[in-house]
Amino acid sequence: MKVESVKKVKSIFQIHFMSEESAKAIPDFTGKKNEVAVRYDGKTTIIYCGVGPVDKCIASAVRSVAAKATRLAGDKKYKEVSLILSTLPQSRKELEVAALQGALAGAYNFGKFKSEKPVVVDSIELVGTTLDAAEIKRIQTISVCVNEARDLVNDNAHEIYPEILAQKARAIGRETAITVKVLSEKEIARLGMGLLSAVGQGSPNPPRLIIMEYKGDRSSKKRTAIIGKGITFDSGGQNLKPTGSIETMRCDMAGAAAVLGIMDALGTLKPKINVVGVVAAAHNAIDGTAYFPGDIYKSFLGKTVQIDSTDAEGRLVLADAIAYTIKQFKPTAVIDLATLTGGILIALGDFVAGLFSNDDSLANALYTTGEQVGERLWRFPIYEEYSEAMKGDLSDLRNVSKLKKSHAAAICGAAFLQEFVGTTSWAHIDIAGTAYNEGEARGEVPKFGTGFGVRLITGYLMGVAK
Ligand code: BES
Ligand code: ZN
Ligand code: ZN
Repeated sequence: MKVESVKKVKSIFQIHFMSEESAKAIPDFTGKKNEVAVRYDGKTTIIYCGVGPVDKCIASAVRSVAAKATRLAGDKKYKEVSLILSTLPQSRKELEVAALQGALAGAYNFGKFKSEKPVVVDSIELVGTTLDAAEIKRIQTISVCVNEARDLVNDNAHEIYPEILAQKARAIGRETAITVKVLSEKEIARLGMGLLSAVGQGSPNPPRLIIMEYKGDRSSKKRTAIIGKGITFDSGGQNLKPTGSIETMRCDMAGAAAVLGIMDALGTLKPKINVVGVVAAAHNAIDGTAYFPGDIYKSFLGKTVQIDSTDAEGRLVLADAIAYTIKQFKPTAVIDLATLTGGILIALGDFVAGLFSNDDSLANALYTTGEQVGERLWRFPIYEEYSEAMKGDLSDLRNVSKLKKSHAAAICGAAFLQEFVGTTSWAHIDIAGTAYNEGEARGEVPKFGTGFGVRLITGYLMGVAK
């Protein structure tokens, strides 16, 4: 993808932004949010993008409609588009950033399995931009990393197994200033990560714990850990998922894909911060060696867990990854990203991710970033009653709550994870709804893998452009 700032328009596919006020000059076009109109001027195609009333024009509207217009360009087989940023109704940097983010996201098209490859927009001209080269590079890099995360989710589960995620991490390590260490199934077992071992034991492709260290500020002791759920396929195990739930479960490594994308972005952009990225990778398979419902396993932290359902596996692999990361790296904050529960879809649908935290200021900062970048979060409580419901019978903990079936399922998953956090500042983001879009593309959110979390967490760690 080429992004360049130009003085004069060269491309014959132009994207103009129009407020409701200025749209009065265009026949049959109202300028309402997300409305697009195609007009022709000789050989030039002009796409008018509605952004609502001038004084109410917000970044999310610009991002969304710019993505829609760019997707249209690809559908119409154009490879080059011009973003006429001077047509934005207000001259705010935030709106220019959103327009570019939208266009980059809208250019994405996963064509790997199509015999006839889709035409993909591979060049974006910025006309009349006030963004400097560094800002453009930052937005572009992050968007490439979002698209890498989408690719990993969209690819076949058969090809993306734990060792492949490890190889992706090693490749990022080779290209950037990130050190990568991968623990094998033997090391995972030797270190006492009984939960990650158990979840991964039924697959011919064994589990991995992937550790990526980025040290951008050696003078600081501050270090954030980001941890991703990397279940490369979630069959449910012995508690096999039924038809209707199982087909999309290659998306169960979306948290891991986001962590890889975030680390790649950091390694490339080199901000002055310290971050450790960890991926708990396993294939939750069903075969004769798979772990059993009813059995009790010992975690890395020492707490024992009774397996009520082999399908509540994400919390198991994350529990070991969280406890190990805290012991090994003593991070100042831990943020995990996980397609953890169907319950979060029941609560929020697929527009908003669930946020759970033991630290109000971390939760508020993540919430605010989400609003700014358009990856929205909504916070849930973890009251004592939920933690109480996760206590075991013969064991310390259970992996499914004692509450009535499906009650507060997303919160109970978070309450389980909290048992492995101790006093470290922590936030859990349940992306089971937002990571994968089974509906049609909407705005910057494509069909299938969305890359949710990459812009959110890089925005949180690096500060979002104001
Ligand atoms: N991977 C699923 C959660 C999920 C559901 C992700 C839908 C994406 C879309 C997770 O491992 C799971 O199966 N959770 C169970 C937990 C239950 C057994 C307590 C669920 O949500 O039903
Ligand atoms: Zn599951
Ligand atoms: Zn799962």
